[in-house]
Amino acid sequence: MSLALRPVEPGDGDELHAIFTEHGVKQYLFDDILLRRDQTQAHVEAACEHGAWVIILDGVIVGLTSLRPTGADRELLIVISERCWGRGVAYQAAQAALRHGFEVLKLPRILAGVDLPNERSHRLMRRLDFVAIGESDGSKYRARNYEILRRAWPSS
Ligand SMILES: CC(C)(COP(=O)(O)OP(=O)(O)OC[C@H]1O[C@@H](n2cnc3c(N)ncnc32)[C@H](O)[C@@H]1OP(=O)(O)O)[C@@H](O)C(=O)NCCC(=O)NCCS
Repeated sequence: MSLALRPVEPGDGDELHAIFTEHGVKQYLFDDILLRRDQTQAHVEAACEHGAWVIILDGVIVGLTSLRPTGADRELLIVISERCWGRGVAYQAAQAALRHGFEVLKLPRILAGVDLPNERSHRLMRRLDFVAIGESDGSKYRARNYEILRRAWPSS
């Protein structure tokens, strides 16, 4: 398995739209809303602005990860095509994003928010050593909020 990340580009919209509209992906990432192609493009272009990477497995785009600004912090987002779930691809890609956040951007902490029913994503957060710090209301689901501190980052 050959896994690589590269900065997302506006031209990645078609591949990402196919992923964003998969049933299991849209369920929690977009509150089950089926995005139109132009809405995907708006997300992709926003991601280009703030630091995001397409996840490439064996030469094919299979997902996106980003460190999206939220207030003074950054929030880890990750999405992988359903066809690649359960293989550790998200874990490795998220680790690379966290490494960039801590080692290049020198962030003191990175946040994440996960809808309460999104069990697969909670398991990922625990594997990455995120710590639950509370809950908040979302537009469709309540969410658990997580953080990981730079001083708790394994390679620091
Ligand atoms: C959340 C999401 C990224 C998790 O993907 P995932 O494939 O479950 O996560 P991982 O890459 O860590 O894979 C974990 C599974 O692979 C297995 N695995 C196999 N090889 C592995 C390896 N080398 N390393 C780690 N895990 C491995 C693990 O045991 C685990 O199995 P489990 O699901 O039975 O517990 C994915 O479900 C997704 O894109 N969902 C839609 C978008 C979303 O909800 N994003 C979250 C908002 S931030």
